[in-house]
Amino acid sequence: MSAVQISPSILSADFSRLADEVNAVPSADWIHVDVMDNHFVPNLTLGLPVVESLVKASPRPLDCHLMIADPDRWAPGYAEAGAGSVTFHVEAAHAPIRLARTIRSAGARAGMALKPATPVEPYEDLLPELDMILIMTVEPGFGGQKFLDVVLPKIRRARTMIERHGGSVWLQIDGGVAADTIERCAEAGADVFVAGSAVYGAEDPDRAIQALRAQAEAAGTRVA
Ligand code: DX5
Ligand code: ZN
Repeated sequence: MSAVQISPSILSADFSRLADEVNAVPSADWIHVDVMDNHFVPNLTLGLPVVESLVKASPRPLDCHLMIADPDRWAPGYAEAGAGSVTFHVEAAHAPIRLARTIRSAGARAGMALKPATPVEPYEDLLPELDMILIMTVEPGFGGQKFLDVVLPKIRRARTMIERHGGSVWLQIDGGVAADTIERCAEAGADVFVAGSAVYGAEDPDRAIQALRAQAEAAGTRVA
């Protein structure tokens, strides 16, 4: 398994001060950017122009999570804008293999996200096309929701699949990740942890990242 990485979600940050907010978390590995279009999910956040500005303002690479319809059309633009990682939802993609290849050829890591009830097994053959699988542990659309324990067995099965293919694909989890849930996720095999409210809702966001990382590393070591 690769090293623990923490990707704080700016969905819970102050949108009027995004440059300050991304600079307030030097311990982050990535900055997670939730793009929502009010079609794929019932919420609307930000899009390409904001990402283009954030690429320049952020000291860490952007981890763009696209909760949008028709990612085949829109996702490559985020890679071209300089995002380090671009994740599309498989439920919305028309041609996920072609899309992953397009994202990679534009210079970004290609991620594929699954909603809580979407099975991972049908996508095993796609692993060589991907740099990351994102397993949602809440229904996408909003920050601050309750972590869905029911998804833990799927995280374990995804980890087994990834190890069968050489272990290089990262396994990200997103939704309800906090001090009381991150250890279960690390034990199940996740290695990239998105946290919104647990980081930006904390009094000291950077310390919150350090604490989450320590918990995940300790839990991962217990399994290894
Ligand atoms: C939800 C987003 C998440 C969100 C997580 O649809 O994809 O990235 O910011 O927020 P928390 O960590 O508060 O559950
Ligand atoms: Zn997200």
